[in-house]
Amino acid sequence: MRAVDIIEKKRDRVALSKDEIEFFVRGYTDGSIPDYQAAAWAMAIVLNGMTSQETADLTLAMAHSGDALDLSGVVDIVLDKHSTGGVGDKTTLVVEPIVAACGLPVGKMSGRGLGFSGGTLDKMESIPGYRTDLTKEEFLKQLKTIGVVLTGQTGDLAPADGKLYALRDVTGTVPSLPLIASSIMSKKIAAGAQRIVLDVKLGLGAFMPDLESARALAESMVNIAKLADRQAVALLSDMNQPLGQAVGNALEVKEAIETLNGGGPADFREHALEVASQLVLLGEAAPDEKKARELATEALESGRALERFRQLVEAQGGDLAYVDDPEKLPKAGIVEEVPAPQSGYLREINAKIVGETSVALGAGREKKGDEIDLAVGVIVHHNVGDKLEEGQPLFTIHANDRAKLEQAREHLLSAHTWSDSPVEPLPLFYGIVK
Ligand code: URA
Repeated sequence: MRAVDIIEKKRDRVALSKDEIEFFVRGYTDGSIPDYQAAAWAMAIVLNGMTSQETADLTLAMAHSGDALDLSGVVDIVLDKHSTGGVGDKTTLVVEPIVAACGLPVGKMSGRGLGFSGGTLDKMESIPGYRTDLTKEEFLKQLKTIGVVLTGQTGDLAPADGKLYALRDVTGTVPSLPLIASSIMSKKIAAGAQRIVLDVKLGLGAFMPDLESARALAESMVNIAKLADRQAVALLSDMNQPLGQAVGNALEVKEAIETLNGGGPADFREHALEVASQLVLLGEAAPDEKKARELATEALESGRALERFRQLVEAQGGDLAYVDDPEKLPKAGIVEEVPAPQSGYLREINAKIVGETSVALGAGREKKGDEIDLAVGVIVHHNVGDKLEEGQPLFTIHANDRAKLEQAREHLLSAHTWSDSPVEPLPLFYGIVK
């Protein structure tokens, strides 16, 4: 078999066989197929797509390209959740403790920020001492003993995806449904997940711009799960405006802890409860959605979820003083509240601009390996549809650099657009794919 023949076949819109896909993935992982051929192949996939069988074959080939975690002897049902990435998305920090408090073990491997979307590991590192580099043995032990783990990837899971993702990032081949679906699902399968809740974001601050493309991605991932003998449900959720109010690492941890304490923004709390309920249902801790929601709500309101979060932080070396008093979390030197420049209804709060502004303040990486500033970010005080009077607080910037703050103010003002007549609030969810 030759790589060039496989590239030409895809270029000419002929579906690839399982053997051909496995040959290509194996060759790219071991270095016998060079980057330039993999880039040409990826571009042919972007342009010509893949059938659902090809997408499933690609996913499994990548999932089997390195280590695989077998959790079957550790927990009865291996649950996982994955968000396709967003702005202000600190959902895992609240959902995982809720689900653990409902009696279901969850061991999650999360990622770092990517572009304008934040990363759970970066956020958790706002808590001094918190380790995100557990070994496989530590991961398994903690999952068995306390039933809640939140760390980075352990071992060499789906290395083909790691390599291909880095290549796609610099060859204009990220936005492709089969490539995104196989990238996400290969990691979940390699990590041993059996039942997965996917939070597929759509809108201005998401990879998928609209409902149609998000639904197609969701359907593809749910279908891959089925072909791989796993079970997945996908929530289609809004990412036109930031989720909750806080965007930026320590600010988001603070908001998550407030939510675990019974406060927090209503939209974020509702989002977290819905994702948690779906996990409780998939994990068979409840017979139906109503009961699953009741259990999740009780876990949050009783403080048991907060207690599980404290347990998680302590187990991974984090200083609990920061959980008990989030005011201690890293703080920016300059905090400026910016008032609404006019009265009216908020028509749009562009999540992408808010995310990019937070990265520019230092909360994310401009390029791989950059240091990030855990303290900086933005608090967006309102939601689309809110009615404001001129001069009311619109957003607050947390910065460590005066020039960056000036730029952030300008960008954030442009992210808010206005209407004189009432504007419908945005839904949190657009549907579910089962
Ligand atoms: N997240 C991933 O893990 N992979 C993609 O391709 C896109 C988002």
